[in-house]
Amino acid sequence: MTGFSDPTLPPAAASPSGPALPARPVRDSYFEYSELTLPNDANPLGTLFGGKLMQWVDLAASISAARHARCAVVTASIDSLTFLRPVKIGQLVILKSAVNRVFRSSMEIGVKVFVEDLHTGDVQHVSSAYLTFVAITEKGVNAGIPAVTPESDEERRRYEEAGQRRAYRLATRLQR
Ligand SMILES: CC(C)(COP(=O)(O)OP(=O)(O)OC[C@H]1O[C@@H](n2cnc3c(N)ncnc32)[C@H](O)[C@@H]1OP(=O)(O)O)[C@@H](O)C(=O)NCCC(=O)NCCS
Repeated sequence: MTGFSDPTLPPAAASPSGPALPARPVRDSYFEYSELTLPNDANPLGTLFGGKLMQWVDLAASISAARHARCAVVTASIDSLTFLRPVKIGQLVILKSAVNRVFRSSMEIGVKVFVEDLHTGDVQHVSSAYLTFVAITEKGVNAGIPAVTPESDEERRRYEEAGQRRAYRLATRLQR
């Protein structure tokens, strides 16, 4: 299967050092890691400080972006981050990230966060986030990153929705 064609973009990204790079499957960018919440991570209410979770989300997303682009990447924006329920100290936070869609030099990364209660084994979805990362070189932005190929129905849905979010982002940026 080849990368999805995107009518809003040039047909294929040319690598700065040569011909267009082949599209890569979303699964190559999958990343998962866990953090045990410790007393140091707490807010004054005794639950996980939101900024700490944002740091972990940014970290997970940056690894998915770098795994896809295989070059330096920077966070351009955190487009959406929801906190669905508080995380208790002592619970295990599990972060799962992947590239949703690649545009030219930028990529949307989705991060889904779960919390596991280590005593009961109960796992709950606590947060979701969408971030935009831009691939860069020493000379500026890197427009030569590979396209991404969604393979499952869920990856295709995320790919389509990422396109809608980008259209909204660009439209709201132009209005400023
Ligand atoms: C992100 C950055 C490289 C973009 O530079 P720029 O000069 O605006 O580059 P361009 O206008 O050529 O845009 C490059 C891409 O970035 C995207 N972009 C730029 N600003 C963006 C923003 N605020 N939100 C989302 N995407 C953005 C553009 O849409 C474009 O995507 P595309 O190539 O896929 O179409 C630059 O703003 C930067 O270095 N920001 C600081 C990044 C950083 O330090 N992050 C850590 C913060 S603690």
